[in-house]
Amino acid sequence: MKVFIARPFHQPAAKLLNSKYDVEVWKETTTPPPEILKEKVSTCHAIMTEGFDPINKEILASAENLRIISNRAVGTDNIDIKEATQKKILVGNTPGVLHDSCADFTMGLILSLSRNIFRSAHMVKSKKWEKLDQYSYLGSDLHNKTIGIIGMGQIAQAVAKRCKGFETRILYFSRTRKLELEKSLGLEWCDDINDLLKTSDIVSLHLPLTDTTRHLIGTRELSLMKKSAFLINTSRGAVVNQNDLVTALKNNSIAGAAIDVTVPEPIPTNHPLLSLDNLIITPHIASAAKSTFENMGIMAAENIISALSGTPMPSCINPEAL
Ligand code: DGY
Repeated sequence: MKVFIARPFHQPAAKLLNSKYDVEVWKETTTPPPEILKEKVSTCHAIMTEGFDPINKEILASAENLRIISNRAVGTDNIDIKEATQKKILVGNTPGVLHDSCADFTMGLILSLSRNIFRSAHMVKSKKWEKLDQYSYLGSDLHNKTIGIIGMGQIAQAVAKRCKGFETRILYFSRTRKLELEKSLGLEWCDDINDLLKTSDIVSLHLPLTDTTRHLIGTRELSLMKKSAFLINTSRGAVVNQNDLVTALKNNSIAGAAIDVTVPEPIPTNHPLLSLDNLIITPHIASAAKSTFENMGIMAAENIISALSGTPMPSCINPEAL
């Protein structure tokens, strides 16, 4: 059987797959062009993709023998799941191996933003440190503050665990209430997202991108937040209405934002977000720690092996495809 791996970075995963299948590895470091993806979904039984490779209806129209799309990501919004399911193609993802790395990164963003670490370090490296003046760089403490976490999946839980260590009050809003976690992590449930937005000093988004979560945060929600509050987004760019965020940051209606995800990615160099001093943007790297990157690759390979051998996959998004 033929397997296509859409990046050259995943040697341990490729080794695992090579022992069983005829594996082709894409040599470029970016998403293969649509014509290549079309060819591969037509000729291969499995493809291993990154979370940003668009496997849409048009690409899937060429799928003939494809049995699994294995995403090396927890998010699968890059794949048309409905179309894949109709075509009886399984979709795999990689939860359970990246939440701690994403949570570490989220804490990094929160501290860089609230304590002005990024802005002040950039000032020094730009050779603009001309006088000793702490006053211009006064930040906000994290301890004793209130963080509002939207979503309460594995990444959100790992963030909450870390915030407990920082002695923050932790509010959360999610579809389902988690009573056990409320006890063990001292979480406080908000059954109304508006209450969380109004009360939090930091709002951190940990949701998948779906039709329901697209533009969940826009002008109305940003205007409910405190003027001193920060927004953190490591989920997906489209969960926030980016134009509304630009306006809120320009008007200082919130104090700042740190985002690891944008629409599109990469963000165009002339985008208005890039001219804002109260914004940190990183290039979609929250999960990108060495061992996590490798473990995600191995899990994606294991999803392929299970799907092609007809055994239960470590993580399947659409088991009903069978
Ligand atoms: C994920 O796992 O979904 C990360 O965002 C990488 O795409």
